[in-house]
Amino acid sequence: MCGITGYIGKREAYPIVIKGLQRLEYRGYDSAGLMLYNQDETSVFKTKGKVVDLEAIVSEENRHGNICIGHTRWATHGVPNDVNSHPHVSNSGDLTIIHNGIIENYDTIKNELVQRGYQFKSDTDTEVLVNLIEEVQIQEKCPIAKAVQLALNDVIGAYAIAVFDKKEPNKLVAAKLGSPLAIGIGENNEEFFIASDASPFIEYTKNAIYLQDEELAVIEKNTAVEVRKIHDDSSVEPEIHALKLNLAQIEKEGFDHFMLKEIYEQPKAIIDTYRGRLLPNEGIIRMAGVEEYIDRFKSANRIIIIACGTSWHAGLVAEYLFEDLARIPVEVEYASEFRYRNPIITEKDVVIAISQSGETADSLAAIKMAKEAGAYVFGVCNVVGSSIARESHSGAYTHAGPEIGVASTKAFTTQITLLTLIALKLGKEKGNLSNSDFHAYLQNMELIPAKLEKILAQNDLIKEIASGFSDTPSCLFLGRGYNFPVALEGALKLKEISYIHAEGYPAAEMKHGPIALIEDDYPVIVVAINKGHYEKVVSNIQEIKSRKGKIIAVVTEGDVTVKEMADYAIEIPEVDEALSPLLTTIPLQLLSYHVAVLRGCNVDQPRNLAKSVTVE
Ligand code: F6R
Repeated sequence: MCGITGYIGKREAYPIVIKGLQRLEYRGYDSAGLMLYNQDETSVFKTKGKVVDLEAIVSEENRHGNICIGHTRWATHGVPNDVNSHPHVSNSGDLTIIHNGIIENYDTIKNELVQRGYQFKSDTDTEVLVNLIEEVQIQEKCPIAKAVQLALNDVIGAYAIAVFDKKEPNKLVAAKLGSPLAIGIGENNEEFFIASDASPFIEYTKNAIYLQDEELAVIEKNTAVEVRKIHDDSSVEPEIHALKLNLAQIEKEGFDHFMLKEIYEQPKAIIDTYRGRLLPNEGIIRMAGVEEYIDRFKSANRIIIIACGTSWHAGLVAEYLFEDLARIPVEVEYASEFRYRNPIITEKDVVIAISQSGETADSLAAIKMAKEAGAYVFGVCNVVGSSIARESHSGAYTHAGPEIGVASTKAFTTQITLLTLIALKLGKEKGNLSNSDFHAYLQNMELIPAKLEKILAQNDLIKEIASGFSDTPSCLFLGRGYNFPVALEGALKLKEISYIHAEGYPAAEMKHGPIALIEDDYPVIVVAINKGHYEKVVSNIQEIKSRKGKIIAVVTEGDVTVKEMADYAIEIPEVDEALSPLLTTIPLQLLSYHVAVLRGCNVDQPRNLAKSVTVE
């Protein structure tokens, strides 16, 4: 939700910030803006639309200066238009701010400021914040850093901000609560970078500080970064991290879209997830985060899984895995419902939070609540050092690498990989899985990436199938057992990137309502592999067929029955039912991708969405 970036140093700042904004566009793309400081003057450029639209309004002669802060917005307060775009400037014109987050008490603060004569151009909470900082600075007659610190103590909400004061032009002040903020440190402290993640500055430095919640940084050119606590102004010794990210990871590398690149990365991403954990030759699964709390897992009354969106679908797959393999009861909860439902949580509960970004506001709030109630919280996150990872008692990273396409793909399959490892490990520890079954699973798990490659090799066929239903206004996805969540995920993928209305259902539920939708050529995508309830799915397919629906089936190699009934079939290699979601998901991702491309949609940046949902 909104990306912020900035530069202060010796280079021309404009190209660094523009490129940085492009890399952060996955966080929101309703509007873009920047402020440049040059020859004692600040200039602000901002516009509704994307970073390319911003570039179009900044003429060549205005692109100079060694200080720049920029913003790409996912609108919360105020419609996406030029005025509501960031940066926002204080009434005096001295202070400029960029902000990712939400100031919840902005209305009260705004009323007070209006009474003191402040005027507002936009509907945003951010313009209120920058004027609050200005008012504090005037009242306290203090430097900008102190004014930011004092003002933030009056604010309720979440933020990652950067503030520039024309009166102190050698510095930027940055602060964080809830939303992420990284500071890149250039050589000899000659230059500094700030950004919502490290991608805008990886070609310039590998040294970064990740601000922690309630920290404020004073970033002074040719000096250093000084970090202080917001609530009491005490000094903090910042930890400098060596970045592992590389440029190739955040570039398309010849693919038309990040989504396609990320779909193709899944064999490697799954290997990266299980590397060092899945050890078939030794007959073990090694996971420090689980082992450390193994007694809590083994004695758990139940596992509560908390997540949103695609991660919630991974949680549903995990419900089958944990109940089937480890015989532990599982409840899968939407974080947003769980946190407001007054749920019953006990010390005997294990809570697993699943989140690619590790920043999803509802998931974060839900685990804080679970912790307060005494539950043990295990985090499954992709982004290293993210808020959910830090807030959990222990956890494991999926190591999928940066996921830039807004629609989640490799994050989903790597979450399932990790959750499968945990379920297998607990199944073994609890004595629910025999030695031979456990060993067979370990070996079969290791074969998944190669099998996945075989599915990717059918991309051309899948593209052709996509063209057969890309003009439909609506369609259904069906699956049973482990593949019911896969049907839900297939429907979500299609609707979010192609804007076709799609619903996922357990196949048997179809006759309780959705079957009414079926008429000539109505597309139904069915996962019909030869495991689980194959015969029952075959009957469901018959029911669709007799109403002349169009059937696109995902089947096991060598299948005859379903292939004869289906209009189109995509084969996946033979696989255990428990491991099948890792394979059956792939054709559905590719189908959605190709349908969206055929419909001319912006696959990587679907309308109204943002990658990291840091507001509830
Ligand atoms: C869909 C998608 C979203 C996310 C959801 C949770 O493709 O990406 O539904 O899965 O916003 O995000 P995380 O996993 O970052 O908590």
